Amino acid sequence: MFGYRHAVLDHCAALLGDRGAGLRALDFGAGDGWFAEKFPERGLAGSVVALDVRRARGARVEPMLYPGGDLPFEDRAFDLVYAVDVLHHCDDPEASLRELMRCSARYVLLKDHVHATRAGFAMLCMMDEVGNRLAGVPCPYRYQRDWSWRPVMAAGGFVEDGMVHPARCHPLLPRFLSDELQFVGLWRREGP
Ligand SMILES: C[S@@+](CC[C@H](N)C(=O)[O-])C[C@H]1O[C@@H](n2cnc3c(N)ncnc32)[C@H](O)[C@@H]1O
Repeated sequence: MFGYRHAVLDHCAALLGDRGAGLRALDFGAGDGWFAEKFPERGLAGSVVALDVRRARGARVEPMLYPGGDLPFEDRAFDLVYAVDVLHHCDDPEASLRELMRCSARYVLLKDHVHATRAGFAMLCMMDEVGNRLAGVPCPYRYQRDWSWRPVMAAGGFVEDGMVHPARCHPLLPRFLSDELQFVGLWRREGP
């Protein structure tokens, strides 16, 4: 678990470089707040608001709770909005993605999944069952297929700034089983 999170954090740091300092960030689906704690510590954000639909046991950072759906923030309220393994847990990931973009003045950073085959889909379902459903997180299997979220980002006025894919996140799983299914990507707002 912590090897996984540290690997994801390292990918985020590689993508953001030194641009994080001082940014006001939203951690969408913060869970127990591990990333909300680490982003400022690593200089990837100046401050972080953690948001979730439920409070995780043993939360390190107290999340702001909301019922799902539209985010309770003004347009462009944050400089950076990030979501680590959250969008595929949402009822409508593309609608949530549009909300993330609406609330960001500058950057959207995503760690999530992509697949292109039924085998890839099945592998993601299995990983979700083991890693998340057992921990009580609902798993609606809404994974991105064939990069279908990219046009959504483009339509929202965001351009890809950097992409790690395949992304090595699970240190203990063989590369061929998982890395192709993982990505960490940074988008930046282009234009008005
Ligand atoms: C796999 S966990 C990831 C938690 C955290 N981002 C991390 O990586 O440690 C998925 C999280 O998404 C949250 N979630 C699910 N649907 C959501 C929604 N519509 N809005 C915000 N958070 C949501 C869940 O409650 C859960 O905390």
